[in-house]
Amino acid sequence: QSIPDLIAKKRGGGQHSRAELEQLVGGYTRGEVPDYQVSAWLMAVFLKGMTEAETADLTLVMAESGDTLDLSSLSDTVDKHSTGGVGDKTSLVLTPMLAALGLTVAKMSGRGLAHTGGTIDKLESFPGWNPELPEDRFLAQARDIGLALVGQSKDLAPADGKLYALRDVTATVESLPLIASSIMSKKIASGAQTIVLDVKSGAGAFMKTLDDSRALAQAMVDIGTRAGRNVRAVLTDMDTPLGHMAGNSLEVQEAIATLRGEGPADLTELCVTLAAEVLVAAGKETDLARAQERAAATLKDGSALAKLEAFVSAQGGDGQLVRNPAGLDVAPGRAEVLAPESGYIARLDALSVGRAVLALGGGRERKGDPVDVGVGVETVCKPGEQVAAGDVIYRLYHRDGRGLERAQELLRGGIELSQTPPEVGGLILDRVQ
Ligand code: URA
Repeated sequence: QSIPDLIAKKRGGGQHSRAELEQLVGGYTRGEVPDYQVSAWLMAVFLKGMTEAETADLTLVMAESGDTLDLSSLSDTVDKHSTGGVGDKTSLVLTPMLAALGLTVAKMSGRGLAHTGGTIDKLESFPGWNPELPEDRFLAQARDIGLALVGQSKDLAPADGKLYALRDVTATVESLPLIASSIMSKKIASGAQTIVLDVKSGAGAFMKTLDDSRALAQAMVDIGTRAGRNVRAVLTDMDTPLGHMAGNSLEVQEAIATLRGEGPADLTELCVTLAAEVLVAAGKETDLARAQERAAATLKDGSALAKLEAFVSAQGGDGQLVRNPAGLDVAPGRAEVLAPESGYIARLDALSVGRAVLALGGGRERKGDPVDVGVGVETVCKPGEQVAAGDVIYRLYHRDGRGLERAQELLRGGIELSQTPPEVGGLILDRVQ
């Protein structure tokens, strides 16, 4: 069939065969199908969805679009992936913790997607840090340090590399089959035996309701289990930004503080929870509470921080900055958003914060746009706290006022105050395995 026929089939709600998905997605990866046809097809998938069988087929077509890594020479290989959020610097804290616990993390991460940040953009806050490693170096580093991390490349799941960048700029991100196949194709191609998924739920996530997040989690766990991997998912709140910082360098600084045991309570809780899940899933611990104690110890004894430093240096970054994070590039401009009246903070909309960071230049509107790692938004207060009129709720870090007014407007629109103490829910919402 022709590509327009395949687009029309999905537009009409039809179900693709594996061969059709190979024609579309394989063809796109090889450069035979252009961006504009794939953009139209992605929008059709976004609107019409996919069956479980189609999603599983799409995942395998994407996973097999390039090389797959053989990690069998490494022991205890583990991986983690988030469905994406605002202020979500979890991987920067969790992966060194896992390495410090004696596990091996050999992982492929993404760049920012829509209003959410990406680990690779964050790590590029370290001047010189290189997201591309040849396979032999990647494996050797994983063996030596316990942590190696690369960006999407033309070798591993290249179909996802291309689709991810195209979805980012065509409003086709928030789709269960597209997210599940994107994440699981990378996880399957990069070979780890144990995979823990952090599935975000709420305004700042791609899945806004707990039911949708649970369905996404279940779909990914099923795909991974069918591929013979050990997969668990934790559903976590993304209605409010995670931690206080959103924006690349600012998030790296907050991650380093957390690795020193001085991080915000929510981020610390999430990293300890996920690390414990990994330990249990990998068969290294049977008791979850004991696993949490072991995970928390890596933040107190400096072992996880030392792993981050070794990892950044090994990939060409300035490891000194891990000890001296004040030296990271933070934009010099400062501005604030103040409480318009006194009351309790009922909600701080994570989506507004993510969009404000984009407005300041911290993300992309077109494929390949440069990202300003120094800009961002600090959420000074958290829901449940009491404020007086004029108290600072958000602090903005901007470069020469770029996007400042728009960012302030977005942030103001996302503040909800109440006159009575609001109910504030917990961070960990559910588990799926
Ligand atoms: N993270 C990914 O890797 N892919 C998505 O589609 C969403 C989040």
